[in-house]
Amino acid sequence: MVALDEKVTKPQYSDEDHATWAALCARQSALVAGVACAEYREGFPALGLDMNRLPDPDVISARLYTLTGWTLGDAQNEYLGPTEWFEHLAERRFPVTNYIRRPHELDFTPLPDLFHEYFGHLAFFTGQHFADTAQMFGQLYLSAQNERQRLEIARLWWFTTEFGLIREGDALKIYGAGLFSSPGELAHALSPDTPKYPFDIRKVADTPGAAYSMHPAYFILDDPGHTRRIIRDYARMEGLPVPQ
Ligand SMILES: [Fe+2]
Repeated sequence: MVALDEKVTKPQYSDEDHATWAALCARQSALVAGVACAEYREGFPALGLDMNRLPDPDVISARLYTLTGWTLGDAQNEYLGPTEWFEHLAERRFPVTNYIRRPHELDFTPLPDLFHEYFGHLAFFTGQHFADTAQMFGQLYLSAQNERQRLEIARLWWFTTEFGLIREGDALKIYGAGLFSSPGELAHALSPDTPKYPFDIRKVADTPGAAYSMHPAYFILDDPGHTRRIIRDYARMEGLPVPQ
């Protein structure tokens, strides 16, 4: 299990680092306006990010704790293994790095980057419904009995919270953090030429995620409660304890 007392270490950021953050925020805010889903639109102001200065993890962690009982954990600037990742979630802790990409990497960074985490993910964690759903994902993963189930649950997480799309009336909005933080993949996902399918648990469970290239297709959630239904339906299908 992961340590409970970990805090995100805070480097001394340079003016150049703050400028990179500000440039990313300005560009992505313009791109996601109009296509962000309701949970993000409502959650982003509550997160209270300063669009010109890199966030202080202690301040954001305290804010999340007040709002939904979540805190930030330390991802130690690496991609965590899935078990460690879902252990954090089960304990209502979202792992973040403190690394900000270099100025020439605005479009893509191969390393985990705090812009993705703060700008893409954390708005969702200001809302109790999503925050509780994310914890259920952790509980589901930790209850899995074999590697097949663990792989499939990680894919369900991936194609909802990282790269999901969601229906809002007649419109298609973005739900996944990877789409909020990546200008290229956002445009690709919303392109009429890119295949999009209704979210089918078995189909998604058989679809590999792509960490270093764009996905050939995306899956569409019906409403904000759909992610929670997916978790519970998968648990029932597999005879696992149903997270409550
Ligand atoms: Fe992510």
